[in-house]
Amino acid sequence: MEKPSKIAPAKGKLGVLLPGMGAVSTTFMAGVELVRKGKSQPVGSLTQMGTIRLGKRTEGRSPLIHKFVPLAELKDLTFGGWDIFKDNAYQSAANAGVLNPQDLEKVKPFLSAIKPMKAAFDHDFVKLIDGPNIKKGKNKYELAVQIKGDIENFRKASRVSRLVTCWCGSTESFVKPEEVHSTPEKFIEAMKANHPAIAPSMLYAWASVTSGVPYANGSPNLSVDIPAIQQLAHDHNVAICGKDFKTGQTLLKTVLAPAFKARMLGLDGWFSTNILGNRDGEVLEDPGSFKTKEESKLSVLEYILQPQLYPQLYGKMHHKVRINYYPPRGDNKEGWDNIDIFGWLGYPMQIKVDFLCRDSILAAPIVLDLVLFLDLAQRAGMRGIQEWLSFYFKSPMTAPGLYPEHDLFIQSMKLKNTLRWMKGEDLITHLGQEYYD
Ligand SMILES: NC(=O)c1ccc[n+]([C@@H]2O[C@H](COP(=O)([O-])OP(=O)(O)OC[C@H]3O[C@@H](n4cnc5c(N)ncnc54)[C@H](O)[C@@H]3O)[C@@H](O)[C@H]2O)c1
Repeated sequence: MEKPSKIAPAKGKLGVLLPGMGAVSTTFMAGVELVRKGKSQPVGSLTQMGTIRLGKRTEGRSPLIHKFVPLAELKDLTFGGWDIFKDNAYQSAANAGVLNPQDLEKVKPFLSAIKPMKAAFDHDFVKLIDGPNIKKGKNKYELAVQIKGDIENFRKASRVSRLVTCWCGSTESFVKPEEVHSTPEKFIEAMKANHPAIAPSMLYAWASVTSGVPYANGSPNLSVDIPAIQQLAHDHNVAICGKDFKTGQTLLKTVLAPAFKARMLGLDGWFSTNILGNRDGEVLEDPGSFKTKEESKLSVLEYILQPQLYPQLYGKMHHKVRINYYPPRGDNKEGWDNIDIFGWLGYPMQIKVDFLCRDSILAAPIVLDLVLFLDLAQRAGMRGIQEWLSFYFKSPMTAPGLYPEHDLFIQSMKLKNTLRWMKGEDLITHLGQEYYD
């Protein structure tokens, strides 16, 4: 792909559309408003707090990322969403219990005004919840067309100049890509025939992309990760990315595993278990939804450690992931890892990680960064899969035939080099020979 010749300025308001207005979405929206009011800092957001080094180490040029590339400003963001429950964003945030009542009180009028549009929902895909705020239609195609209508109504009513969609809905049951997902034509036929392999998240993806709206997929569902929608993204010049926000345990896995590999330390096994008590945890009690999540969490080690290249070190590793729904913990997940590694002469060692994290606190800044970077990509004319945003995902989407990069440091370099490339700056290779001539 050629370097963007110019990036259109971020003029006017940017609408953020969120299918799923639960814990992550409401924590994200509340956080943006708290930051806009000067009551909090956007901790965890690369677009808001990160800098980028330009040129040689001797040049001392490290601007803030949002000064270097023309990102939308927080004041220009405006929000909408869909959910199967009728709760407004304030009620939903209070129910999720992520933010304390004092913080929520400060943004109550703002959140209360964000009311969910009716959702396209299919109980077969999310078995353990049900709600009253649901669209009706003859078939899935009609529902998708209704979502397109919602997008256009939102565009007009909120007078935005641009939109981005970020799926923050529940994890849907596992589906494999099938023939019906292979082309835009077959996909439309399948929606009209109510084919069981067409998930609700795909309807939102189809509606967004065909409306010219970039789409990020925060959950492990296929959603935009099917050839039909990727083809449409290409045809409609729309940027897409996914899938499954990389937040707690997997973030640490993609930091630790590259360290073992870099030092040629072996791995016998990695056992990861989680307890969490939010609605996401409840949904993941269903084996179909868990399978989708498990696939996403398991793929990471294989790609980072490359057992086919290092059979003596990684050929026999056991990798297990467990998620247990345990209501007392709410959104404050605990993730344990037991890692059995071995070193010189095969002597075994163990590492234990106990991450007492907060799921949505880790996910919210990712939503913000994805929205702003996708909008940037769209204005720069970058269409289709945005692999440079792999940094944010457990299962990064790639072009067919390409394996994904999971190593957080490779992903970070890829992201920052993409920003340099977009702006015509030298890429940074970290070679450093020039300092010793
Ligand atoms: N750290 C994290 O929190 C994290 C990390 C990675 C991925 N995710 C994913 O992000 C998503 C959101 O997580 P959460 O904690 O906010 O979950 P949540 O259960 O609090 O919110 C999800 C919301 O989606 C709604 N929903 C379900 N199906 C819908 C549909 N078809 N249309 C519209 N709304 C629908 C539900 O009613 C619910 O309110 C989940 O898929 C989760 O797996 C979260």
